[in-house]
Amino acid sequence: MHKITLIPGDGIGPEVTFATKKIIDSVGVKIDWDIQNAGSHVIEQFKNPLPEHVINSIRKNKIALKGPITTPVGEGFRSVNVTLRKELDLYTNLRPIKTYSGIPTKYDNIDLVIIRENTEDLYVGIEHMVGDDAAESIKIFTRKGCERIIRYAFEHARKEGRKKVTAVHKANIMKCTDGMFLGIAKDISKEYPNIEFEEMIIDAMCMRLVQVPETYDVLVLPNLYGDIVSDLCAGLVGGLGFAPGANIGSKYAIFEAVHGSAPNIAGQNIANPTALVLSGIHMLRYLGELEASNRIENALSSVLQEGKVLTADIGGSASTTEFTDYIISKFD
Ligand code: NAI
Repeated sequence: MHKITLIPGDGIGPEVTFATKKIIDSVGVKIDWDIQNAGSHVIEQFKNPLPEHVINSIRKNKIALKGPITTPVGEGFRSVNVTLRKELDLYTNLRPIKTYSGIPTKYDNIDLVIIRENTEDLYVGIEHMVGDDAAESIKIFTRKGCERIIRYAFEHARKEGRKKVTAVHKANIMKCTDGMFLGIAKDISKEYPNIEFEEMIIDAMCMRLVQVPETYDVLVLPNLYGDIVSDLCAGLVGGLGFAPGANIGSKYAIFEAVHGSAPNIAGQNIANPTALVLSGIHMLRYLGELEASNRIENALSSVLQEGKVLTADIGGSASTTEFTDYIISKFD
């Protein structure tokens, strides 16, 4: 029996998390879900979108499946997502990007993994006004931060039998921060002679990803570039509805979709749960539940390929519930 913290989150969060829970429960994996509420809807009750007991639940269970959480823009609380990553030192953001047949996209054979540094860079949130008319934000890279994410990328490539690691940077302009990241990537790459290493400037990377995405395998990026390139890559494989993710540290892991709380469609039972279901599949693999994860992936693939029961974002008219139940009906 696995004990897992389940955070439904805001907006479409509860719809997609309970859909994913239903699919995982139906496949027969024994999970004791510890449901914990966090997000903008708990601020009034706890005076905090991320109450301490939620973090403690993850510390205890070591693993969480999480729905998206709304971040108020410009003022108020620090992003719950950024806080969780920092508090639990979840330094790796892993985002697999894969084309599934049946999903209308401009590309066929994309199968890459984005490995984004998750705790440093401009996301440390050290910003201030300089007088009324200027603002400053501090970009922080540490040797330890660069080393562990780059090493994670190479180890992941080795474990998954992947062939190439591309380090993405803007070291021509930011010679200290991005320059250090690139230098460390070059050094570590020498320890992995069987994995091809290449480096690419972030702007060129964006163009190449649009032109020849199928030629990339593992991308390792600092936080900000990783954030932006993740959405670009989600677009290559059918949109945010198909982009799963995981935040992984040395002690804890939180699995979540790349998309946000989608307030524009919340509460209508029309959200596409696929991204979180894919995150759930990766969570099951992380737990060693390979058979269950494969059964869910096969059922999901056959539903997408068949194209009869799909949510509105991918051209169908099924509700979240109908789509979920249809996946369950396809278990072999
Ligand atoms: P979003 O990802 O919530 O929505 C962007 C567009 O994609 C919207 O049109 C939405 O309807 C659509 N969309 C997203 N997920 C979908 C799904 N599963 N099925 C169908 N359509 C879907 O991005 P947005 O609007 O920029 O952010 C909304 C809120 O979510 C913000 O407060 C943001 O900070 C937060 N957010 C939270 C994340 C997290 O908790 N991991 C990640 C990204 C954003």
